[in-house]
Amino acid sequence: MYQPLTAYSATRSSNMPFWNEIVCGDSEKLLQLIPSDSVDLVITSPPYFHQREYDGGGIGNEKKTGDYISALMNVFRECVRIIKPTGSIVVNIGDKYEESSLLLMPYRFAIAATEQCGVTLVNNVTWVKSNPTPRQFKRRLVSSTEPFFHFVKSKNYKYFIDEFLKPAYEPSTNGNGTGENVGKKYFGLIEQSALAPQQKEMARNALEEVIEEVRNGEIQGFRMKIRGIHSEPFGGQEGGRKIQLDKNGFTIIRIYGNPLKKDVIATPVESLKNCPHPAIYPVKIVEEFIKLLTQTNDIVLDPFVGSGSTAIAALQHKRMYIGFDISQEYCAYAEQRIRDAKPQLLLWEKNNAENAY
Ligand SMILES: C[S@@+](CC[C@H](N)C(=O)[O-])C[C@H]1O[C@@H](n2cnc3c(N)ncnc32)[C@H](O)[C@@H]1O
Repeated sequence: MYQPLTAYSATRSSNMPFWNEIVCGDSEKLLQLIPSDSVDLVITSPPYFHQREYDGGGIGNEKKTGDYISALMNVFRECVRIIKPTGSIVVNIGDKYEESSLLLMPYRFAIAATEQCGVTLVNNVTWVKSNPTPRQFKRRLVSSTEPFFHFVKSKNYKYFIDEFLKPAYEPSTNGNGTGENVGKKYFGLIEQSALAPQQKEMARNALEEVIEEVRNGEIQGFRMKIRGIHSEPFGGQEGGRKIQLDKNGFTIIRIYGNPLKKDVIATPVESLKNCPHPAIYPVKIVEEFIKLLTQTNDIVLDPFVGSGSTAIAALQHKRMYIGFDISQEYCAYAEQRIRDAKPQLLLWEKNNAENAY
């Protein structure tokens, strides 16, 4: 039987109902219980048009495309109402072929949302699936992308662009070590090299100088090439570097500015062992939007939470979650998935529950 995960939820005061809860019911009705301007991020993937019968019924099997879009708009309008002026809505919808023709459903939805709900479409971020369902069509290509639309209701939306697809290592060090260790490995390589003592001295001085530039934030990172240790640069601008390498025995390549933040996320379709849900989206993508659009303790709501992917991503990043789904089975699974998440995540959740709201 479906049991709410958070035993303390019944006793706390309820300016914001349902936070850190998975709630079973129709999202259009449940959203009406959420105060206006109260949620930082709505991120979701509604049922796709004519894709499957979900346990619990719900949206997706309307006869006409227009009826499907209208049903989605009823939910979307509520989402616009409940997000803060600084908030965002991110919606992932897949497309559908009928009679061998794409319906362009995601774009019909995005057009309706912008025309009917007064939102601005900031980006259409493309999810590139590195492992699309292997199908052998003779007369068309395998679909391997889906859009994630990012909508806002004011220009003041929170945005932390440096956090989006941030490399695992500190970018300022460019992989040459971190903090005090930045660039240290090159000192050892200089000593190992066959450079003349005077060249080694020059290389050490140049290395110290460039390390200081990284520490002062003047450049983002650097690479050093040492004759006899690293491969020779060649061609174009690198031509000058080859001359430096021949003459001085080393060259330093300075890296300026941040890497381009592009509207693409490449990641595989996820599958979870023993998961009853047939269509989950990758936690990794939700995490990227959570980092981009919210801060610690912010509230992230998913009106079609399914297996709980959004809640898991929110917990990983110390955000509050609210998840709705019409299916009891999926709600129960989502709660179990949250229970199985790392114990420290739940501890964080419990401490916050006692202190907030
Ligand atoms: C594409 S799935 C979401 C999957 C989810 N992103 C995940 O990673 O597991 C859509 C979900 O919407 C739910 N649903 C359909 N109509 C609904 C409604 N009116 N209210 C709430 N949930 C609904 C379905 O049960 C299904 O779990």
